[in-house]
Amino acid sequence: KYEKIWLTFGIGSLVIFLVVLAFGAFWQGTHPQSHGVTIDPENIEANDAFKPENLGITKVSDDKYIVNIVATAFNYNLGVDEEGKPVKDIRIPKGSTVLFQVTTKDVVHGFNVAGTNINMMVEPGYISSYETVLDNTGEFTIVCNEYCGVGHHLMFATVEVY
Ligand code: CUA
Repeated sequence: KYEKIWLTFGIGSLVIFLVVLAFGAFWQGTHPQSHGVTIDPENIEANDAFKPENLGITKVSDDKYIVNIVATAFNYNLGVDEEGKPVKDIRIPKGSTVLFQVTTKDVVHGFNVAGTNINMMVEPGYISSYETVLDNTGEFTIVCNEYCGVGHHLMFATVEVY
């Protein structure tokens, strides 16, 4: 009789554990967020979001922004500034809603804004997107958390919330 109770308890715990694991994997963005939104990795510029002039941050309204990024080995392309230098830092006012759209032409990369809930896998052929409200001020580093080659650790950019 007791064995039956323990067996039920054991199976119950296992089920709960698996459910927690599945949710964890889902929320942490272990999978691309935007299944089904495909893009031709050979011609990403065909998609408006990834035309060179649309890379980086775009203000949609006072509290709404879009950030388009192309991850490559070994860089996050956020467009160029007025002087033609690569942008490595984007500044966003606190409380803004931001839609991040990221793709890649080459291999699988990660897109993790350290210290926030933004964590995506970026795969060639897909647009990974994530919309969030940036509620905390600070400087957050974008890091690649999928091994993508010898320069993997060199991939970074920063998001400054002020
Ligand atoms: Cu890109 Cu690791």
